[in-house]
Amino acid sequence: MPLSISDAEKRSSISERLHVLGRGNECILNIGRYYAIDGSLGSEVYIDGSKPHVILICGKRGYGKSYTMGVIMEELYRMDNPVKKNLGVVVIDTLGIYWTSFFENRKQKNVLERWGLSPSRMKITLLSSAGNMEKYRKIGLPASKFAIKASELSAYQWCHLFGVKMVEPLGVAISRAINELEGKNYSLEEVVECIRNDGSSSDHVKGACENFFRMASSWNLFDTEGMAIEDIVRAGEITVIDMSSFSDELKKVLVSIMAGKIFERRVIERKEDEEKIIKGRAGEKKKFPLVWMAIDEAQLFLPREKSISKDILINQWMRQGRQPGLSLILATQRPGALDGEVMSHSDIIICHRLTSQEDIDALNRVRPTYMKEEMGEALKKVGSEKGVALIVDDISESVRIIKVRPRLSWHGGEEACLTAK
Ligand SMILES: Nc1ncnc2c1ncn2[C@@H]1O[C@H](COP(=O)(O)OP(=O)(O)O)[C@@H](O)[C@H]1O
Ligand SMILES: [Mg+2]
Repeated sequence: MPLSISDAEKRSSISERLHVLGRGNECILNIGRYYAIDGSLGSEVYIDGSKPHVILICGKRGYGKSYTMGVIMEELYRMDNPVKKNLGVVVIDTLGIYWTSFFENRKQKNVLERWGLSPSRMKITLLSSAGNMEKYRKIGLPASKFAIKASELSAYQWCHLFGVKMVEPLGVAISRAINELEGKNYSLEEVVECIRNDGSSSDHVKGACENFFRMASSWNLFDTEGMAIEDIVRAGEITVIDMSSFSDELKKVLVSIMAGKIFERRVIERKEDEEKIIKGRAGEKKKFPLVWMAIDEAQLFLPREKSISKDILINQWMRQGRQPGLSLILATQRPGALDGEVMSHSDIIICHRLTSQEDIDALNRVRPTYMKEEMGEALKKVGSEKGVALIVDDISESVRIIKVRPRLSWHGGEEACLTAK
């Protein structure tokens, strides 16, 4: 059965199929319309939101990656309630642009009208650093402080965060302290205390470790309680985590902690889901929802080189995520900088204008057999219009040009412009 389908007829057939599967609800995501070379628009394009996916959105800067990601977020948000109640969406907002989703897209009102759509806001759950939370609250947005339990980081994650190797004296001292505190709900102050009392480390090492944990403490992000993963991934909601004020290393560690926790929870819940289906209680609300995680600037988290976030996202989410019901939406301007496995695991690739040969070559290396044309040739048809993209869909085994629909809520990723109104 196709994931993306081309016309109303197929649309009803997919709805029927979902009905047969016992869902009977609308969980198709309308991302845009097919696009002809003369610029005319064809039938609507859908993604089957009832199944887990790895969707890779790529293209050069300014041609619609974050925008397309926003459109998919809106579609997940607009799903019917019976489906939505079992779905949680987490957005790793590396640049802090998705808070604007709280507002209607008035600036493209005319474009929306041409599509027969009208502006509409999204009520997201917005999490951010304490500093950004204050800024959001000042403009009337209900932001909350994002916090992680200090005890949820492993010694390896702390070392990674501080750029320390586990085999160095500093890494050894950190590991010893974390291992000693294992099983406790500790604060960073307790880690410092533990390191101070370490009889096997030199004063120099202890001092350096203390500095690292004091620095971590100043981020006001790790505390004894922190947020449970259920507070971050909420059934029926879109949670946007504004990570714009965090360092790249911190972003990677945070994503690896959350991705790991979500995977653990879903593996357990999947067993319960199965039990419910066997006992004829499939319609019941899940204790922990299926999860879609959207990651902008994905090259940071899934580089070719070794990376803490890559281990979990590839080994768990991509290789094993279908069974527990985990989906990823990744956006990058550098597909060539991604680990090669990312592209081979992506069942839907949406590629906006792309001109760098290195990036085109990277996509070409994973070009599916059903795609007759070279990637470079196919991408020429995309042209330079914003929002136009090539879509390679593994399930329907089709390659088409689409125009992504306009956003209903305000898109915040626009380039800064001196004459902006
Ligand atoms: N599908 C679309 N329809 C209308 N405008 C679009 C569309 N996609 C992108 N744009 C325009 O292009 C701009 C840049 O898109 P954006 O997604 O922020 O770029 P990037 O690829 O760098 O993430 C947007 O602010 C918007 O004005
Ligand atoms: Mg962007």
